[in-house]
Amino acid sequence: MAVLGILKYPHPILKKRSEAVSRIDEEVKKLIQDMRETMYEASGIGLAACQIGVSRRVIVLDVSPMDPQHSFFALINPEIIAEEGEIDHEEGCLSVPDCLEKVKRKEKVCVRGLSPEGMEMEIKGEGILAIALQHEIDHTNGILILDRVSRLKREIYRNKLKKEKRKEEKL
Ligand code: NI
Repeated sequence: MAVLGILKYPHPILKKRSEAVSRIDEEVKKLIQDMRETMYEASGIGLAACQIGVSRRVIVLDVSPMDPQHSFFALINPEIIAEEGEIDHEEGCLSVPDCLEKVKRKEKVCVRGLSPEGMEMEIKGEGILAIALQHEIDHTNGILILDRVSRLKREIYRNKLKKEKRKEEKL
């Protein structure tokens, strides 16, 4: 098990659609452990495999800091099978540092996927669990919060990054 580095925007892997997992082997189980440790180390409530450079459809979540009813779980090949309602929610992302943006989300979702033991799971989520599920499933499809805000906000963020990079180069 290891804490791994989290890729940051605009790393190309974050833009790619991740590949489905066809067999849950030891490698996938180790990946989930690494994702779990990396998420906790970064004080995140969710992480997708692509964020540590592995382009496979695996997500981990632990929203218990905000909703004590839902602690750690991992989902393999997650997909939204039902959704309901709409809300705006302010979100951040470990791969998009210093960015908090209001994102349009579904209020409730039902997600289907496999547990690390290969059991088919259906998770009904609302509140922060629904938001986090949508956010992490977005990652598996190569979508970041920056893709869900206005072009103007995206430009502002890009310019901020450019400025910071220039500052670093001068130091
Ligand atoms: Ni994220």
